[in-house]
Amino acid sequence: MSNANKKNFAYTAIYALSFLIILFLVWFIYFKPPSEVEYAWVANLPYVNASLNSLCAIFLVLGYIFVKTGRVSLHIKSMSAATVTSGLFLVSYLLYHHFHGDTKFLAQGLIRPIYFFILITHIVLSVVMVPMVFITLWNAFTNKVEKHKKWAKFTLPIWLYVSVTGVAIVYILKNYNL
Ligand code: HEM
Repeated sequence: MSNANKKNFAYTAIYALSFLIILFLVWFIYFKPPSEVEYAWVANLPYVNASLNSLCAIFLVLGYIFVKTGRVSLHIKSMSAATVTSGLFLVSYLLYHHFHGDTKFLAQGLIRPIYFFILITHIVLSVVMVPMVFITLWNAFTNKVEKHKKWAKFTLPIWLYVSVTGVAIVYILKNYNL
């Protein structure tokens, strides 16, 4: 297979996989009825989620500092750790959603538009982010450094925004919701 064909195949596979992941998440979050049972430990999951998102944001910032100071091997470790942490967050978030279902935001006043602005941008960018992370990683692991850098310029700030707003959402829900 020529290099151009390999690239087209990889990008098509990444977009198809991202589409399937997003489709599954939409079904899981918006259509699947929540579980009938609830366990006490489920109440702790929002804190696990916020911790994993905080860890992810820390790994992303460290990974950026490492690459900008020439420590590429630490950059790779840090970005791989961010990827694992984000994956674990997704598992923990889905578990919470499975047992707890939707969380209604009932607070009124200025916090309400602020919360929904954060929530909506968080959701939209988390969808956009899925293929971007895969493509950035694929270009890195196949040694296409210039392509990797081009994608990373957009992937990194979007991923960071999604992680930080994930923490902000839990904070607002725990402190402002009725
Ligand atoms: C999705 C996770 C990753 C993100 C967001 C990311 C982000 C970045 C950023 C922002 C840069 C600097 C771009 C610039 O200077 O303009 C960079 C460079 C680089 N990254 Fe990544 N990276 C990720 C994963 C990886 C992985 C897994 C590897 C290796 C397997 C890797 C290898 C490199 C290399 C070799 C450079 C260039 C270093 C240089 O210019 O000397 N990155 N990355």
